[in-house]
Amino acid sequence: MSSAAEFQTYCEELRAQGHTLGLVPTMGALHEGHLALVREAAQHATRVVVTIFVNPTQFGPNEDFQRYPRDLAGDCQKCESAGASVIFTPNVEDMYLPGDATRVQVSGLTEHLCGPFRPGHFDGVATVVTKLLALTGRCVAVFGRKDYQQLKVIERLVQDLHLPVRVVGHPTVREVDGLALSSRNAYLSIEERVRALVIPTALSLAVAAHRAGQRLSGVLRERVVSVFAVVQLRVEYVSFAHPETLVPYADDAELPEVCVLAIAVYSGKTRLIDNVVLGLDAPPIVPGARG
Ligand code: PAJ
Repeated sequence: MSSAAEFQTYCEELRAQGHTLGLVPTMGALHEGHLALVREAAQHATRVVVTIFVNPTQFGPNEDFQRYPRDLAGDCQKCESAGASVIFTPNVEDMYLPGDATRVQVSGLTEHLCGPFRPGHFDGVATVVTKLLALTGRCVAVFGRKDYQQLKVIERLVQDLHLPVRVVGHPTVREVDGLALSSRNAYLSIEERVRALVIPTALSLAVAAHRAGQRLSGVLRERVVSVFAVVQLRVEYVSFAHPETLVPYADDAELPEVCVLAIAVYSGKTRLIDNVVLGLDAPPIVPGARG
């Protein structure tokens, strides 16, 4: 289904029939991480709707909008077998009407972590998600903790705009070797894929050190950065931040029991993000459990 009006009516009709709705917004090129969100949504609602829309406003001018992987036929099959009732695949003109002039901007949360490196990105995300929520109406919307900052931004906008939506965050789904699933992993060469594997290694090392009582932000940060240096992954940021406000801790700060470690690195030309909530999440790689 690609018409916005048709999708809105469809959602209204489902609710009129007594159904509750689960919503899973995606940009397609679906993998097990996305499908886990569909299955999670089915736990909270009697009908699950998936949206597939590569949203132009969240890509920067030098980013990968044009070459973002697209596989609509494959995606539809996967959604169906995961239990989705309908897939909404709007065109750009359906989402951004002629004369479109409205943007949703969440301040504060978007000033940290990825924010400074992707100007306008979260405005694009917040705007398109608000539109999708407006079309869907009352629902449970499921998002991945893989994009931790995005999840926090969406929680905030739902609260601030009084939307009739319950936001559910789903844990990061990983490959057996610990690499977080991402549509962008398709860009990696074999060699880049191997080097990317230090990401879960570095996060796991931080979990272990934090658990062992290492609380000095700068020391932990240095350990993580040095793991990336070994395989020459270019670090965009390695930040320890408050799990709700996302305000980063300075290097000389003492970390609390619970905080988020978020990273962005490049393997070759591919930008990869990952995170772990220290004090809550299990390490992405359990030592000795690989292979
Ligand atoms: P996309 O990258 O396609 O991701 C869609 C949803 O899947 C997001 O909630 C994301 O956090 C989740 N996800 C991706 N990889 C995951 C993984 N390995 N484990 C768990 N969840 C994972 O995020 C977007 O699209 C867009 O910004 C969107 C919210 C659709 C707005 O355009």
